[in-house]
Amino acid sequence: MTMNDAGIRTDAQKVFDTYEHLATEILRKGYRHNPIYMARKAIVDWELMMAAGIEGKRVLNVGCFEPIDELLWAGLAAEWVGIDLSPRSIETAQTIVQRTLVPALAEKVRFRVMDAQALEFPDESFDVVVSFSVIDHIPDPAVRHRAILEMGRVVRRGGAVIVTVPNRFGYFRALHRRNVRRGIVSDVGYQYFYAPGELRAELRAAGLMPIRYTSDLKNVNDLPKYVRALIRPLEWFGDRMGYLARKPT
Ligand SMILES: C[S@@+](CC[C@H](N)C(=O)[O-])C[C@H]1O[C@@H](n2cnc3c(N)ncnc32)[C@H](O)[C@@H]1O
Repeated sequence: MTMNDAGIRTDAQKVFDTYEHLATEILRKGYRHNPIYMARKAIVDWELMMAAGIEGKRVLNVGCFEPIDELLWAGLAAEWVGIDLSPRSIETAQTIVQRTLVPALAEKVRFRVMDAQALEFPDESFDVVVSFSVIDHIPDPAVRHRAILEMGRVVRRGGAVIVTVPNRFGYFRALHRRNVRRGIVSDVGYQYFYAPGELRAELRAAGLMPIRYTSDLKNVNDLPKYVRALIRPLEWFGDRMGYLARKPT
């Protein structure tokens, strides 16, 4: 039996079942109503999206689950496609988008059930490909690698790939492991915790160029420059972290 970083048995079927179940729970109230989750997404995922620039772009969201990103960014992107392995998550995402966005925005967003390791899109069909807290839910390293290769394949040359995950060295990690073991927090199917350097190497191995790192312990911009420099190393210990990478032209 193989144990994962969270001290639980690695199991792709269990992850699938978890998200099929959670998909019905989030219809009325979801992570989009959790301020801490949203704050982490804002500081990490959305900061990298702003750096990539998505205005007027064709965007693919790999492992969308609840359509939090779709609700926020559909207005800015030209086209948005969300994919997920879990059919119920896709159904839920469609329902939430239809009942939340005005029709002119909802029609920009499409969803499909799909596996990240075998994307059913032609080469170079998107300007920006994002994947937030998804590859950490894939137990097999070969499948994680194929998923990143696929993101690199479907993005155009010069386009952006953004991958964020929970940090192996994150300030919350040890506590999370303990709380899962004790049954205090629910097991949401984490299968692998990347270290920042490891994620950077994974992106490079897929032919992408990581150009920007961020985490939720990012420097606060309005601090004096020398204080920012002093506390910058803390960024490696943020709980959610990730990279913006470019596909070479
Ligand atoms: C934590 S949720 C994603 C959260 C969401 N992206 C966000 O930022 O709020 C993980 C999602 O990854 C999906 N997933 C796991 N393995 C996948 C795969 N091989 N292909 C596509 N989706 C996958 C799960 O079904 C689940 O919906």
